[in-house]
Amino acid sequence: MTRTILILNGPNLNLLGMREPNLYGSGTLEDVEKDCRQVAAPLGLEVDFHQSNHEGELIGWIQDARENAVGIIINPAAYSHTSIGIPDALRAVDLPVIEVHISNIFARESFRHHSHVSAVANGVICGLGLAGYTLAVSALNELI
Ligand code: DQA
Repeated sequence: MTRTILILNGPNLNLLGMREPNLYGSGTLEDVEKDCRQVAAPLGLEVDFHQSNHEGELIGWIQDARENAVGIIINPAAYSHTSIGIPDALRAVDLPVIEVHISNIFARESFRHHSHVSAVANGVICGLGLAGYTLAVSALNELI
């Protein structure tokens, strides 16, 4: 049986590689997707990978995961700090969740220090650069 994990990326992460490379590195979101698939395949995991600049679209994918996925990795980006709908959707689907932040949000502006998503995540990886995503795939595999 194929097990699928959902990997979601919030607003502006489509610009990875060109967006503030001092904070987010020079790799692109396509690189991240490729790396995640490479780590997931030997674990027997399929990857469903998405990015959106729209909160409702992210919520729709989370809701669909009830039927389609065994766990979720999410970098909610700026919505981490503002959205109630995303953590509510994650609570509703009741799957293991790993939250990823590329940068160390605690070493940045104070408005980034709180994420509404962290309370519903099984674990949070933050500040380890793009490697955080592949570490999250391994961690999620332990949880599912
Ligand atoms: C981010 C951190 C957020 O504060 C920011 O809004 C992002 C990216 C990160 O991956 O470090 O867009 O989630």
